[in-house]
Amino acid sequence: MSEIQRRVRSTHFRDKKQRGEKIVMLTAYDAAMARLLDAAGVDALLVGDSLGMVVMGCETTIEVTLDAMIHHTKAVSRGVERSLVVADMPFMTYQAGIDEAVRNAGALLQKGGAAAVKLEGGRAVVDAVGRMTAVGIPVMGHLGLLPQAIHQLGGYRRQATSAASEELLLQDALALQEAGAFAIVLECVPDAAAQRVTGQLSIPTIGIGAGPGCDGQVLVINDILGLSNAAPPFSKLYFDLGTAVTAAARQFASDVRDARFPDREGKTRDDAVVQPDR
Ligand code: KIV
Repeated sequence: MSEIQRRVRSTHFRDKKQRGEKIVMLTAYDAAMARLLDAAGVDALLVGDSLGMVVMGCETTIEVTLDAMIHHTKAVSRGVERSLVVADMPFMTYQAGIDEAVRNAGALLQKGGAAAVKLEGGRAVVDAVGRMTAVGIPVMGHLGLLPQAIHQLGGYRRQATSAASEELLLQDALALQEAGAFAIVLECVPDAAAQRVTGQLSIPTIGIGAGPGCDGQVLVINDILGLSNAAPPFSKLYFDLGTAVTAAARQFASDVRDARFPDREGKTRDDAVVQPDR
């Protein structure tokens, strides 16, 4: 079996770092998108709690529930043959107690079909991470900008910008590694801080707005496809699917209103494809 077809496991992440192979992660929230991203060879699909903002239209990720995450993780898992499915643990599903955190993480694997969970925070959550990894639940950490702490942070702004906060970032990363995390997302921190942390860890870092020095990169799928109305500046538009969808819907509306659809002359589906304006 070729390398591209082999199922990605959390245990492969450290090997990839050692080989200097960049890790590719994108978010996914449903089976259709998961199938496409899996076929493209993306290493890991993150069912992020960004679900709340990009799919549910909420202002923050705070409202996302465990049930919602299980529902979408199940959908993503059904669409995947190769990629590692990582499910975000929503706000207040792992902070209130270790037993509850382990049970909730277990539910994302058992009911959602995830192969790993991700949670936000450093030393504050390492006891929970330790218990999860001890019972066989692979955990991805998340440091830097923590969207679940947005009310405390006061805005989506760059973190670890001083020498002292960079040092705390490093200590948190080392603590997560020590607790058994297999990788750490670094969100919105200076390139130099991300590079320093990456160099000090044996587990990989996966950056988002953290520069090219990380061992891998993750972006929100809706942001790179033009499906978000507020993509962050560090993201990149790879295809403007948003404009294409509006063009297709406009074409359908005018076809229906002008009685061009359904077609009585037996045209094929391919004749009807609308090309997006680029
Ligand atoms: O929820 C999410 O999509 C994330 C990524 C931004 C890393 O945590």
